[in-house]
Order: sequence, then structure tokens, then C-alpha cells
Amino acid sequence: MKILGIESSCDETGIAIYDTEAGLLADHLYSQVELHAEYGGVVPELASRDHVRKIVPLIQQTCADAELTLPDIDAVAYTAGPGLVGALLVGSCVGKSIAWALDKPAVEVHHMEGHLLAPLLEADKPSFPFLCLLVSGGHTLLVDVQALGQYQILGDTLDDAAGEAFDKTAKMLGLPYPGGRYIAELAEQGDDQRFKFPRPMMNRPGLDFSFSGLKTHTRVTWEQAREHCTTEAEVQQLKADIAASFQLAVIDTLSKKCLRGIKQTGHRQLVISGGVSANLSLRETLGQMGAKHRFKSFFPSLKYCTDNGAMIAVAGAMRFMHKDVPQDTLIKAHPRWSLEALS
Ligand code: KG4
Ligand code: ZN
Repeated sequence: MKILGIESSCDETGIAIYDTEAGLLADHLYSQVELHAEYGGVVPELASRDHVRKIVPLIQQTCADAELTLPDIDAVAYTAGPGLVGALLVGSCVGKSIAWALDKPAVEVHHMEGHLLAPLLEADKPSFPFLCLLVSGGHTLLVDVQALGQYQILGDTLDDAAGEAFDKTAKMLGLPYPGGRYIAELAEQGDDQRFKFPRPMMNRPGLDFSFSGLKTHTRVTWEQAREHCTTEAEVQQLKADIAASFQLAVIDTLSKKCLRGIKQTGHRQLVISGGVSANLSLRETLGQMGAKHRFKSFFPSLKYCTDNGAMIAVAGAMRFMHKDVPQDTLIKAHPRWSLEALS
């Protein structure tokens, strides 16, 4: 069975064709990062308009690469939420219209379920049940995954998401948006022991997260230490040391909460997904922690950590094969949509 996957929830247009027998046949991604760069964040109206421009040519290109035409597709999966309403509506309109024109089923996909299932695109994949850390620009969730669609949120962020904290810290240091990968690059030249930043919520029981205190602490440290720099080289070293100390605090917090979640649930598999899971230090730390505490970590390959169409296609395929997918002709978007509502 061949599924066309469409992702347009934020600033990436992602298209993929996934075959349940042969795996991923083709996928394309168009990132709007340059469009939004001068504003330091995503401008929703510009995002929607750019999805409108790019979505159909990308679908045509993906079909050509997979050496098939639209009538060869068995179902169309698209991100119906959560995300920016205008951006979601572009993917929903196109997805539903193609499905209707081909007289094939349309499958609404929850964006975070797409991230959660992205490691299933890999050769070495997890099996249900598992614990999942979803870390993106908008979410930081620890989820007990019992089966497809059976999700219990064990931990959530009380304020900023982990990716948001990376992005805001990057902006403060004058790095481009979205800043997670630039913080990670800068951190490689820095001393992560120079500053001991707080590990939020670690002294309290439970699995919730909070990153706004860390962000404020980082800002105050940066502003005070910058005053004492006398050369440009010192400023650059300070930036690298701040990036490294900040990154270590985030990774330490995320990984220790994962270990707590593993002990609480008894799962032996941990899935880490979403944009921040592209962070190599986080991957290394969780890999080492797993070796020590006898659990196995699964990550998507780097290109499928951030938003993409392949994860939507695979999630759509699983939903279609294992769940009832009601069909109607209404085009809907769910900008706010809890993962637990899928259960
Ligand atoms: O999953 P995603 O593409 O979009 C959302 O659904 O939010 O995640 C984007 C987030 C951004 O905050 C970005 O800075 C962060 O993922 N990110 C990283 C890295 N690569 C992307 N954060 C830390 N280290 C990275 N290497
Ligand atoms: Zn995402």
C-alpha cells in the first residue's frame, strides 16, 4: 500500500511517498527558514502563502522521483494539527482534495504522533510499548506509549519547550533562527563547566519540565559576563562557553527525566524524536545512559528529526492499517490538539 504524506504545520513543506512493503520511496522538503530569518521567528501568514506556492510542485516532484503518478497512491495522509491554522489548512485542503479526486481515503495525522513514529522509518526500529521523549520547538513531552494511539502524557513543560529555549538562547547570542543547531555547533568550542546553570525541576518528584528559569539565568549570566570582556576573542569564547553550559543543563535535565520515566514505567525502550533529538550530545548522553541502565534508545535519522513528510506518511499508513479512519468531505484543521485525545 502506497501513502502520500503531506506536512505543512509550520515552516516546512514536507512531502513523501511511503510503501508499507518497500518503505520510503521518495521524499522532499522545502524549508522556509530563509523567508522567516529576518523576523527572528515564523510569520504565520507568510508561512501559509509559501506552502501554497510550494506544495503542488513538491508533490509532482516526489511522484516523479518515486516513478509513479497520483492514481498509484492508495491513501493520502496529511498533518491536521497541532500547528499554525493557516499552514495546516493548506496541507489539509490539498490532501483532502487529492484523496477526493482519486476516490481514495484521506487520513488526518497528528503532527506529534508523526514525530513519535518517525523512528519506524529506520531499519532498527522500536516495538510497542516504549517510553517516548518528544522534544521540538513547541513541545517537550514524556509519553508512555502502550500501542498505536494509546498515549499517556507523563511529563510536559510548564513553560517553554526545549527547542524554544534553544532558539531564545541562540537569539540572545546573536545566532540565526532556528538556533538549536547553531547552539550545538558553538557548544563544541566551549567549556561546559565554566557556568553551572540550574537543572530545572530536578529536585521535585515527577516528570514535568520547565525551561524559562534556565533561560533567564542564562541571559543574566551573559549580560554580566559580557561586561568583563575586553576583546572580541573573549566575547566569542564567552558565547561558546554559555552555549556549552546551557546545552549541558538542558541535556542533563532531559536525560535524567528520561531515566526517571524508564524506572517509573519499566520500559526497556526509549524513543527520542522531534527537532531537538537531532542534537548529537543528547543522542550520545542517552545512548550511554541506556548502556548503563539497560534500556535501548531509538532516534530517527537526522533528516527525520525535524519536520518532514516521511513521518506523516508512515504515521498515516499505520493509522490506516490499524485504526478505523472515518471518511467525510469536511476539510478541518486542529491547531490545538492533545496527543492524548487520540487514545
Ligand atoms: O520538530 P521541529 O522541526 O518543529 C516543531 O515541531 O517544533 O523542531 C524544531 C526545533 C527548533 O526549536 C530547533 O532549534 C530545534 O528543533 N533543533 C535543535 C537542533 N536541531 C533542531 N535543537 C538542539 N540541537 C539541534 N541540533
Ligand atoms: Zn515538529
